Amino acid sequence: MKILLTGPTGFVGRHLIDELLAGGSLLRVLVRPQSAGKITAREGLEVVIGDLVTGEGLTDALRDIHTVIHLAARTSPASDSLISATNVRGTAHLIDASRRAEVKRFLFVSTASVLSAHLGAYEKSKLEAEELVRSSTISFLILRPSLIYGAGDTKNIGMLIRAIKTFPYIPVVGDGTSIMQPLYVDDLTALIRELCQLPVWPRRAYTLAGRERISLDECCDKLCNYMGLKKSKVHLPFYPVYYICSFLYRLGLARIAPIQLLHLKEGFACDIRSAIDDLGFRPCSFDEGLGRMFCSGREGVSQ
Ligand SMILES: NC(=O)c1ccc[n+]([C@@H]2O[C@H](COP(=O)([O-])OP(=O)(O)OC[C@H]3O[C@@H](n4cnc5c(N)ncnc54)[C@H](OP(=O)(O)O)[C@@H]3O)[C@@H](O)[C@H]2O)c1
Repeated sequence: MKILLTGPTGFVGRHLIDELLAGGSLLRVLVRPQSAGKITAREGLEVVIGDLVTGEGLTDALRDIHTVIHLAARTSPASDSLISATNVRGTAHLIDASRRAEVKRFLFVSTASVLSAHLGAYEKSKLEAEELVRSSTISFLILRPSLIYGAGDTKNIGMLIRAIKTFPYIPVVGDGTSIMQPLYVDDLTALIRELCQLPVWPRRAYTLAGRERISLDECCDKLCNYMGLKKSKVHLPFYPVYYICSFLYRLGLARIAPIQLLHLKEGFACDIRSAIDDLGFRPCSFDEGLGRMFCSGREGVSQ
């Protein structure tokens, strides 16, 4: 039973390869030509070159594949058109090729931010892609993770870790009370490995997040604690930061999209009961996740 994984060179993909190979899966990964140097074939792992946007390489990639795990995506700071081309057109190409290759199951990794009140190009593209998956004839499962952290994460908590290391004070946008529910990457990859072993998938979407809801201030305090640093937080007024960030983002000078700041302000408490009841999902606490991440020595740095 062979699995095709897209997005193997990304943060989650690298963790998922280790998890699936450790579980004895036979794995093929789809890698863009320009990223071929980021990954090498090894026992149980076959590398195929292709691109979701052009559809190049997909027929070869899907030959004799039982299950597709579709992780590949683009998010900000990519342009809206690249986000749509990759996440919508790319998913359509993959579904079409999967149908032709008679793939049995399709697992799509979406995002919990599709449930947000503020939908940007990324969230809209994920919703469109979800719809493509739902309307396909292949048996499917959609996972909607909240923000993911772990070794090799340079975006979310990884960015915060770098800010804590860099600045004498911790810059916190807003009053620090907004809620987050970060998901430890190994909890996601372990769940995906277990799902690959289930004979039947419920054809629906599941929201995934960590066990704990914490405020942004608590998150900063816990990170400082693990880093052995004593730093004060400076709360920056939300809207001035938002407008400056929007201006810089339009000029291509900021990596954080304005919509991400709105999500931060809105906060994000997830309902993960369905995943616990139906899928046996058992995420760890933020402290446990941080403990494992800091043990790896690869917190806040790319892999
Ligand atoms: N990280 C999070 O906090 C988070 C939260 C919720 C949901 N998610 C979702 O989880 C998934 C994995 O996230 P991640 O953080 O691992 O993303 P990531 O680090 O940005 O990795 C994205 C992957 O997609 C690949 N890719 C992009 N365009 C492609 C194309 N045209 N053809 C083939 N592959 C392409 C990239 O390949 P290259 O190396 O060649 O660029 C890379 O392997 C994504 O679907 C994301 O939306 C992530």
